[in-house]
Amino acid sequence: MITAYDALFASIFDPYVDMILVGDSLNMSFSGKPDTLSAEMDQMIYHTQAVCRKVKRSFVLFDMPFGTYINDQIALENAVRVYRETEADAIKLEGGKEKAKLIRHLSDNAIAVFGHIGLKPQSVRSEGGYAIKGKTEPEKAEIIENAMALEEAGAVALIIEGVKPDVAQEVTRRVSIPTIGIGAGPDCDGQVLVWSDMLGFFDEFMPKFVKQYMDGGTLVREAVQRYASEVKSGLFPDENHSY
Ligand code: KIV
Repeated sequence: MITAYDALFASIFDPYVDMILVGDSLNMSFSGKPDTLSAEMDQMIYHTQAVCRKVKRSFVLFDMPFGTYINDQIALENAVRVYRETEADAIKLEGGKEKAKLIRHLSDNAIAVFGHIGLKPQSVRSEGGYAIKGKTEPEKAEIIENAMALEEAGAVALIIEGVKPDVAQEVTRRVSIPTIGIGAGPDCDGQVLVWSDMLGFFDEFMPKFVKQYMDGGTLVREAVQRYASEVKSGLFPDENHSY
């Protein structure tokens, strides 16, 4: 799984991945906001529509923004809107066993739900930062309990973020639904990364779990610099690029 927020990159990624997440991380990497909390339904719907327009084969996952699933009714209204206005296959929401009843309500109404446990970026302000989870035995037990409660409630898969590898391994062993890790070690069933992190476009900070598969920022800076200097020096446009 990889994130995508627009038609252009979704079409580039689509042949090589199984799933595309339209993550609320776009609020940080593309809107320049300090966290994901101000992402809105309209914004996520717009980006998901763009992604779905060019995806031919990947499963598309819609990330429910902060505040859009605060109770059963609001969550269902917003999830129905996702299915009506986009072609997303499922929605994702953050939370543990306290969200089990809500997930059951959505599942009972034909919404496919991915849970998101461990480090929950939408809790950044209430928790005072992004801390790795599962470092102590009680924390580990709580994450496992959350995972099992979400499966029991009807979640179709789990994103596990920012946990010690042994926690993700144990969750993956205990649940029968797929687990997809990010900063969760090698033992989940699948893996997700934010595309602008893994391709080196977002370099404001780089979490340890991100592997950069290219240095996109440097490549683009060099190309744009060359373009600007060729225009200024008169090298471009030349005869080959004129009618
Ligand atoms: O918004 C996002 O990109 C995510 C990933 C970090 C899993 O939720």
